Amino acid sequence: MLLDFLVLGLIVVAQALDVVTPYNNKVVFSPPSNWPIPRTLYARSLLIAQDGADKNVLLATWENYSPQPPNVWFPVYRSTDLGQTWKPLSNITDTQNGWGLRYQPYLYELPSAIGNFPAGTIIAAGNSIPQDLSQTRIDVYASTDKGRTWKFVSHVASGGRADPVNGETPVWEPFFFTYEGQLVIYYSDQRDPEAHGQKLVHQITTNLINWGPVVDDVADSNPSDRPGMTTVAALPNGKYIMTYEFGGAPEINFAVYYRISDSPLTFASATGHNIKATTGQQTQSSPVVVWTPYGGTNGTIVVSANNSGGLWINKQLGAVNSPWTFISTGAAGGYARYLKVLPTSQQIFIVVGGVLGGSGNHVLASVVNLP
Ligand SMILES: *[C@@H]1O[C@H](CO)[C@@H](O)[C@H](O)[C@H]1NC(C)=O
Ligand SMILES: *[C@@H]1O[C@H](CO)[C@@H](O)[C@H](O)[C@H]1NC(C)=O
Ligand SMILES: *[C@@H]1O[C@H](CO)[C@@H](O)[C@H](O)[C@H]1NC(C)=O
Repeated sequence: MLLDFLVLGLIVVAQALDVVTPYNNKVVFSPPSNWPIPRTLYARSLLIAQDGADKNVLLATWENYSPQPPNVWFPVYRSTDLGQTWKPLSNITDTQNGWGLRYQPYLYELPSAIGNFPAGTIIAAGNSIPQDLSQTRIDVYASTDKGRTWKFVSHVASGGRADPVNGETPVWEPFFFTYEGQLVIYYSDQRDPEAHGQKLVHQITTNLINWGPVVDDVADSNPSDRPGMTTVAALPNGKYIMTYEFGGAPEINFAVYYRISDSPLTFASATGHNIKATTGQQTQSSPVVVWTPYGGTNGTIVVSANNSGGLWINKQLGAVNSPWTFISTGAAGGYARYLKVLPTSQQIFIVVGGVLGGSGNHVLASVVNLP
């Protein structure tokens, strides 16, 4: 609790938490039991430092399998107590394709202006897909009022049928990152199926409207490989880390890999390394990486994967052969679980939308303290 501001000589106590007692699996959203399975999946979150009088606001969104028709949308929920309680804020709806916003939402706050969109604009990307799953299209929407209202901004990439098997040609799983004043969108790309069952790529924009050429980040020479689900974090030594799942990995299918590069635009030439704890826990599927300054001179790299409620951490900036430590948490595991570093930097916020194909999925929030 902070004494946030003085108004007319009265001390007004605002609900502005910087730190919270760690908690596990508080309900963000419980879908009605008549919704099609998996009901919810693939959650994402955003921490907004300041929204009017409110500090440290969390937003969350997820794949929302409401009964169809009408077209599906991405719900946006808001919390002002670091994730302990949530209220609906808005819906991001497809205003362009008549298909709905179906899979893989992502929320991001612009740290600097991009074209006519000022710093602080909230942007959302996601996969617009018709009910018959016959097409995929990564679209971008923007909110200039911290997530309360949304407007379509641009189409980034269009692909074929939304079926995650080699030979189909969809696009998937957008992720945003800012580099040298430009906005980068990373995504998974199956549009070159003879050469790459799936590869990881990015495109760049300086105005949020026009997107530059498709550039490879992970494009394996083995055409059956399926690297997927890019996330990226900046490290304090000026380098960048990306994690991805590696369909076709020798360790286990969809083992989590990472690459480190001097620029977040040149991961294609970096070497991939498997993430496995020194105590044996192997990562598998749908990873997310964040870096926090907490935990010593190098800070801590924190990675989530589908196959555990725990986390994998590295305190040596991901140096080759440096140790990854597995830490248990009370947070539920799940598919495409998401991480955010909270203001104290020791605390990690985790949001999860459930497990792939799960019949008991809910959207759940947890906060863990790093060791
Ligand atoms: C989102 O859309 C659903 C379905 O139309 C509606 O029930 C709900 O109230 C909307 N939520 C918000 C916050 O507008
Ligand atoms: C995710 O992990 C769970 C629990 O280990 C496992 O049952 C499930 O098959 C995994 N799913 C994927 C897509 O890896
Ligand atoms: C920081 O990371 C480097 C490798 O990048 C390592 O040599 C060094 O020991 C680390 N420092 C600490 C305090 O762990």
